[in-house]
Amino acid sequence: MNSKTNLTINPQRLWDSLMETAAFGGTPKGGIKRLTVSDEDKEVRDWFKAECEKLGCTVQVDEVGNMFATRPGKKDILPIAMGSHLDTQPTGGKFDGVLGVLGALEALRSLVDMGYETNAPIMIVNWTNEEGSRFAPAMLCSGVYAGVFTADYAYTREDRSGVKLGDELSRIGYKGEHKAGAIKFESMFELHIEQGPILEAEEKIIGVVTGVQGMRWYEVTVTGQESHTGATPMGLRKNALLASARMIDAIDHVGMNHLPGVASVGLIENRPNSRNVVPGEVFFTVDLRHPDEAVLDKMEAAFRQSIAKIGAGSNVTFEEKCIWKSPAVKFAPALIECVRQGAKQAGYSSREMASGAGHDAAYIARVTPTTMIFVPCLGGISHNEAESTTLEECGAGAQVLLNAVLAHDASFA
Ligand code: GLV
Ligand code: MN
Ligand code: MN
Repeated sequence: MNSKTNLTINPQRLWDSLMETAAFGGTPKGGIKRLTVSDEDKEVRDWFKAECEKLGCTVQVDEVGNMFATRPGKKDILPIAMGSHLDTQPTGGKFDGVLGVLGALEALRSLVDMGYETNAPIMIVNWTNEEGSRFAPAMLCSGVYAGVFTADYAYTREDRSGVKLGDELSRIGYKGEHKAGAIKFESMFELHIEQGPILEAEEKIIGVVTGVQGMRWYEVTVTGQESHTGATPMGLRKNALLASARMIDAIDHVGMNHLPGVASVGLIENRPNSRNVVPGEVFFTVDLRHPDEAVLDKMEAAFRQSIAKIGAGSNVTFEEKCIWKSPAVKFAPALIECVRQGAKQAGYSSREMASGAGHDAAYIARVTPTTMIFVPCLGGISHNEAESTTLEECGAGAQVLLNAVLAHDASFA
């Protein structure tokens, strides 16, 4: 039975699991709100654990809640891992991250159905807090696994209401006993939706991902002075929101001036947020990305220069700090070749591409050979409840994931 040709995944079963788990945090608009280590995250984790155990896997959890489900292979060697994340944005879709975990589950279900024994054990990983939406930064617990952050750093990250990640992990019962980084694997493949428009525009089914662009996150607090909107003359205001608006516009220009770089402000808090008070304090976040670190340095300098100039000209003070840097990453050539072969074997059109979004694979690539597979998403829209990918595209991704894993597993024969 150990012939590769009959190993096909079941796209309908994968789709059914995607739709079943979309109920954990499902939103009226058809998306998912499943913030990391929330009650909804616990529900999907419990579901995932039970499904893996049904397949005869051992499920282990590390100290930052990363979950590892392992099916033994013929040889007692390190596993080949497939993984992504089950957490979502506050107005997230049904596929970002979830496809990578459930596509891996489908690949494993297919192996079990066919009684196929791999040489290496096969592992599925669910990484904690990839999104970085509730607790910044993104890719936090794959980062702990890779030694970029300590577990204590992760535990002490606070959401916008001051709740700590470590306390939430204990509350939902997913602060595991294993040290982060101690549960080893020898490679990782991450299946994901592209989250951009290229595959769709070129009518390609598979993205053979060669790396991830560099990313930097900053936090800015602008301080002016609260005063009466009716009684404070225009020329005497210290309006923190107006200064922030000018800064946000300048940040957009930083992106436009460094294409294909991107510059974004996604979170803003205006205080006291009352219609007849001139805003006294504004907090906002900045996200700069570019594939080339040297250009990212230039973007950072341009951003800092422009907000300093605007601050000085707007009668406000401000504080700015860089809270996260994730350098550009290149994936492992041997694994990229397995993905190329896997797409070819299944007869899917493909193209090579770099990822604009951040992924756990970016941190795991620091400690273990890693690569990624992309499938298209409708209109390139992601981080949106309308995020959409077809049953066929999800199935194609899971098939290429399985093919690539088996191509790599063949090297352990
Ligand atoms: C993660 O989703 C990121 O790219 O910010
Ligand atoms: Mn993702
Ligand atoms: Mn995401």
